[in-house]
Amino acid sequence: MRIAAAAKVNLHLRVGLARDDGFHPLLTWMATIGLFDTLDLQRSRGQGIQLVCDGIDSPADPSNLVCRAGEALIERMARPREGSAVAGTRSGSDSSAGGALIKLTKRIPVGAGLGGGSADAARTLAGLNDFWRLNLPVDELSAIAATLGSDVPFFLQGPSAVCCGRGEIIRPIDSPKPGWLLLICPPFGCSTPAVYRAFDQLGLGEADAIENEPDWSAWTRLESERLLPLLVNDLEPAAFVVQGDLGKLRERLERRLARIVRMSGSGSSLFTLYDDQAQADEAAGMIVKDFPDLRVEPVRLCPQQD
Ligand code: C5P
Repeated sequence: MRIAAAAKVNLHLRVGLARDDGFHPLLTWMATIGLFDTLDLQRSRGQGIQLVCDGIDSPADPSNLVCRAGEALIERMARPREGSAVAGTRSGSDSSAGGALIKLTKRIPVGAGLGGGSADAARTLAGLNDFWRLNLPVDELSAIAATLGSDVPFFLQGPSAVCCGRGEIIRPIDSPKPGWLLLICPPFGCSTPAVYRAFDQLGLGEADAIENEPDWSAWTRLESERLLPLLVNDLEPAAFVVQGDLGKLRERLERRLARIVRMSGSGSSLFTLYDDQAQADEAAGMIVKDFPDLRVEPVRLCPQQD
């Protein structure tokens, strides 16, 4: 069984004051993009998850979110809840959370704010749920997903959603009107905890940041040049302190493209939006020529997936 795991961007990201548990309350619009890792699932004789990795450097050990997702699902199935419809599913002829060999081919850069590890974890949960015929409903998968990371549940419900809480409360909305995104990844990543720490140290949190919701339905109908000026990422100033070169790079890109460039998540990836592919391709050509160190990819926003 082959599964594609799409990356995401945070089109809009507002961040409130740190909660008592250290996490920050968010109000964010997330959307998938046409940049994918691939998961190949095979039955294995043993119990548990065996992982092999290919592509961009990613640890093939139990710390990998793919292993943690598989093991969390196995643990959940070992303890069916009292009275749960799911409790009966394991007694079905060949449904059981047994073993699996997973090959992960990584293309989504790490430390880029594109949710690559989270996408892999979510697609592992959904894929193994089918592969092992467990029939867990999406809300049960989401509860497991939330234990793995704040943005894992989004990837069970994309391609376009407003996410609140620490990111785990998902409300699907229409996909944005612009169909293309120019993704620009510098050759360095940003550490998410370091960016949130800098956000606190700089005193950037505001209690009301997450209170006033935009009219999402109006926003989803706007073309790129009207939508871009409305989009905000409250983590940008913090990420630009953690990675001093990132803010300067964003300014140079904005000048070269004559267009607003935003950061995704806690960085380090940057993006801008286009209404059609020809514009995105032309912009990519300019950046590739002038900035040879950057990874530059025009990708679909909210691509169709099986
Ligand atoms: O949930 P996740 O493992 O992705 O979070 C990584 C780190 O990012 C957390 O340990 C925390 O420092 C920070 N974070 C946060 N508020 C959020 C999400 C993440 O402070 N809503």
